[in-house]
Amino acid sequence: MRRALIVGNWKMNKTASEAVAFIRDLQERVPTPLHADVVIAPPFTALESARKALGTSSWLSLGAQDLHWEAQGAFTGEVSAPMLRDLGCRYVIVGHSERRTLFDERDEQVRKKIKAALTHGLSPILCVGESLAERESCRTESVITAQLTGSLAGLTTQDLAAVTIAYEPVWAIGTGQAATTDQVVPVHRSIRLFLETGWTSQTASAVRILYGGSVTPQNGKLFLGSEAIDGALVGGACLNPDSFATIISLAETERA
Ligand code: PGA
Repeated sequence: MRRALIVGNWKMNKTASEAVAFIRDLQERVPTPLHADVVIAPPFTALESARKALGTSSWLSLGAQDLHWEAQGAFTGEVSAPMLRDLGCRYVIVGHSERRTLFDERDEQVRKKIKAALTHGLSPILCVGESLAERESCRTESVITAQLTGSLAGLTTQDLAAVTIAYEPVWAIGTGQAATTDQVVPVHRSIRLFLETGWTSQTASAVRILYGGSVTPQNGKLFLGSEAIDGALVGGACLNPDSFATIISLAETERA
């Protein structure tokens, strides 16, 4: 079994001081996990305070929620991979459905962001997923294949090894309507098959494929107990230290 990865996507929530309080609280609740890697992705404005609160020896890693593909330049409002690295980030979420739908982000931009992340030593967490209309018209697999094709084009085997994929059905995000494992597992299998076909089976088998979309302490066991699901990308339930701690502990027990 691959080591689990639990990612908390804070979205546009928590100030820098709230981030510090959250981290202290979480660290008190959770002993160092043995079977799971844990990432929090605060907003850009809280990264520096979060890094200081984490200290040097924490089991918690820092991630960002987005990046620009250029390293620097005249891109008002944007943040680059070297800037995120300098703030202690190890991961970056790329192509989240909110970026795609609210900010019109396309696979070509996602591809450039993944490349930039890899060039500067960040591990990209690529989000893919279908809308409800796409699922209902049996286009889930073709939509996800198109997203993967457009976003991962040109990556070497070594590049791919540093990528995590999060399958997040758009209809399950923030709705309280999580997908069932019967819906998730076939998609995860087809993602892994896509990776095996495009790269090597050895590399494909090492890539972690997460599920995201209304994961909670109540339903987390279903996902984290499934061998085809390597972890969770958590939104709403990661904002509360108690519920995020419970999800981490579920990963620990299910992957032990
Ligand atoms: P949710 O969000 O857990 O609130 O559904 C998940 C995500 O958007 O990554």
